[in-house]
Amino acid sequence: MSLSHCYNFQDFRTLAKRRLPGPIFHYIDGAADDEITYRRNTSSFDDVDLVPNVLAGVQNVDMSTQVMGQKLDMPIYCAPTALQRLFHHDGERAVAKAATKHGTMFGVSSLATVSVEEIARMAPGPKMFQFYFHKDRGLNDALLERARAAEFNVLALTVDTITGGNRERDKRTGFTSPPRLTPSSLMSFALHPMWAWNFLTKEKFDMPHLSDHVSAGTNLAVSVGDYFSTMLDQSMNWEDAEKLCAQWGGQFALKGIMSVEDAMRAIDIGCTGIMVSNHGGRQLDGSRAPFDQLAEICDAVGDQIDVICEGGIQRGTHVLKALSVGARACSCGRLYLYALAAAGVAGVDRVLENMKIEIERDMKLMGITRLNQLSRNNLRWRR
Ligand SMILES: Cc1cc2nc3c(=O)[nH]c(=O)nc-3n(C[C@H](O)[C@H](O)[C@H](O)COP(=O)(O)O)c2cc1C
Repeated sequence: MSLSHCYNFQDFRTLAKRRLPGPIFHYIDGAADDEITYRRNTSSFDDVDLVPNVLAGVQNVDMSTQVMGQKLDMPIYCAPTALQRLFHHDGERAVAKAATKHGTMFGVSSLATVSVEEIARMAPGPKMFQFYFHKDRGLNDALLERARAAEFNVLALTVDTITGGNRERDKRTGFTSPPRLTPSSLMSFALHPMWAWNFLTKEKFDMPHLSDHVSAGTNLAVSVGDYFSTMLDQSMNWEDAEKLCAQWGGQFALKGIMSVEDAMRAIDIGCTGIMVSNHGGRQLDGSRAPFDQLAEICDAVGDQIDVICEGGIQRGTHVLKALSVGARACSCGRLYLYALAAAGVAGVDRVLENMKIEIERDMKLMGITRLNQLSRNNLRWRR
């Protein structure tokens, strides 16, 4: 299979699996415990059906939306994800380029492998910086100031990683970042010589937001689980989030909100957005899927805060269902990560283009020309 034959999520996933050494593929593909929540994130969309209207004159469709003050040309953006240069040597650069081309937002992780300064130079569109709250307050201040100086538009504090999820695939494969050379990982690299060649000959692996603050630099091979457990501050609470929101003083989201109580509290502390998300099922297995939980949250918060639905999104119809319930936009992780791994910037460009074409077609078939014409009237729950 080649990129030109990638039409959907599974196609990109298949290509990514072929291109990546096993431990790296499974780091993207895996989730917590029995991966029940991970699977439910996508299957939750199947319990709701769209009810279309016809004869609506749909030759001109506008799929733009506004979220946390940012105008997006399409209602889905790239969620922040770690370590992208492990997946393809262009990493965040490729995602930034493709997101900019498609006029959508791009999230940059605290664990990014390209710096916010470089991303800012190449991606003039809307950008989100994803913030992990570290024990080291100097590191927290430095991260915030770098994102501000680089003129990132939104700061998103991730609140669902207070400790690492139990990602058994990573334990089994021995995934570390950067990859450690063991007999089994060497074998896996040997079976993927193109990836290994690029990894060994291109720019050295680095996590530029952390490298000045981690004593052993990024040569320290750690699992992401260890990073969560050792470097992040488990005492983080609402007061800390409120202070951070005030310190940032701009568009501010909590990423990983799942309960109505927390959604309401996010409004109280001054947030302008919440990402309804369970971290792609990578943290608390057995927790509810974002789409299942969306209606409760949207009903409670109304227009007081922008709601983003994140997790399990593979299709344009998933986006339309989430927007019909009340989300302002959706974001995706694995969808674009498989495409990145499959073919770098060309892959991310294609997956976003596919999504744009799907959403446009789906809007026409639904009989709407603007996203604000979507409502729960055009949904029916099966049970
Ligand atoms: C490989 C990978 C790395 C991720 N890294 C981060 C991260 O550094 N920070 C963060 O807040 N979320 C991270 N996430 C979670 C995503 O931002 C997002 O919540 C999740 O991917 C959404 O689910 P989906 O993959 O089903 O679309 C990561 C997800 C994946 C798959």
